[in-house]
Amino acid sequence: MLTRAYQHSLRGSHLPAGQPLLEVDNISLRFGGVKALRDISLTVTEGDVHAIIGPNGAGKSSLLNCISGLYHPQEGEIRLHTVPGSRGGHRQDADRTTGEVRTHTLTSLAPYKIARLGVARSFQNIELFSAMTVLENLMLGRHIHMRKGVLSSMLWLGPARRQEIEHRQLVEEVIDLLQLQAVRNKHVGALAYGVQKRVELGRALCLQPALLLLDEPMAGMNAEEKEDMARYILDVHELAQVSVVLIEHDMNVVMDISDRVTVLDFGAKIADGTPDEVKADPAVIEAYLGAEEEDQAVREAVAHMEQQVAQETAKEGDRG
Ligand SMILES: Nc1ncnc2c1ncn2[C@@H]1O[C@H](COP(=O)(O)OP(=O)(O)OP(=O)(O)O)[C@@H](O)[C@H]1O
Ligand SMILES: [Mg+2]
Repeated sequence: MLTRAYQHSLRGSHLPAGQPLLEVDNISLRFGGVKALRDISLTVTEGDVHAIIGPNGAGKSSLLNCISGLYHPQEGEIRLHTVPGSRGGHRQDADRTTGEVRTHTLTSLAPYKIARLGVARSFQNIELFSAMTVLENLMLGRHIHMRKGVLSSMLWLGPARRQEIEHRQLVEEVIDLLQLQAVRNKHVGALAYGVQKRVELGRALCLQPALLLLDEPMAGMNAEEKEDMARYILDVHELAQVSVVLIEHDMNVVMDISDRVTVLDFGAKIADGTPDEVKADPAVIEAYLGAEEEDQAVREAVAHMEQQVAQETAKEGDRG
């Protein structure tokens, strides 16, 4: 399916498509009295874009934080399935699926160990080094695969040099895929918000993930930027064949690009299925319509006030 001649595989998983990649099994997470997640189960399938949607405070980020090891649920288990193989990078390695499937329990692992297993993520708020260039930020995404330290690589010390060139090639492919050529040497802090979010996606991709977790990659974007971002996520999925868990607030945005959708509301799972199944689910319609009706009521009230102000102004104009 690849349209461009990429030398490296950006996909770190060796599981055949259609097999369970990640299993979230009855997890619950509490913060004091707040139940952020209640008995959540879901399965992410290799090769899917799996969306997690829900209103503010539904527990979406908490779920992602449990998967990536930042939070540890008090109950339940999270398991990742991998097939051993070289994650070093050449395309033919990634297509080889000979080994046995191994199951890793992530629930109490430290975040860096989960990242080493191939789970990469982006954050709801941009977490980039703004004083560094795009290229430098992307190279940092490779550090997990570097035998020589990041520091010696950056200082361009002798033995690190060959390794750096190898990693550089992979980073170049990410730059190409996400069309970041024009900004490669710009400081991240100077870039438009939408481009920064794309750099964050790129940095996660540089890890050659088995699973890519994206927390609201389109938050705060205008319609055009959202469309662009959705296109890049689809490229990552279709061209690089990376499995993606995508958190989004806006149901319409995910419906077009997801294979499967899980809906959370107040920490509980209220629906799970294909986009069409979820769209038709009464519980989802209620959760979303409730929010929409509230928005509509506010819009109507504002419109009414604006109309009154306009009438008053017109009257005063007549008098004066
Ligand atoms: N570190 C924390 N300490 C205390 N409470 C937390 C913490 N993280 C999340 N929560 C609470 O857990 C609940 C779920 O929050 P979470 O951030 O997971 O929701 P979300 O679905 O990502 O919302 P949003 O759409 O606003 O990003 C909220 O009530 C939140 O206040
Ligand atoms: Mg969130």
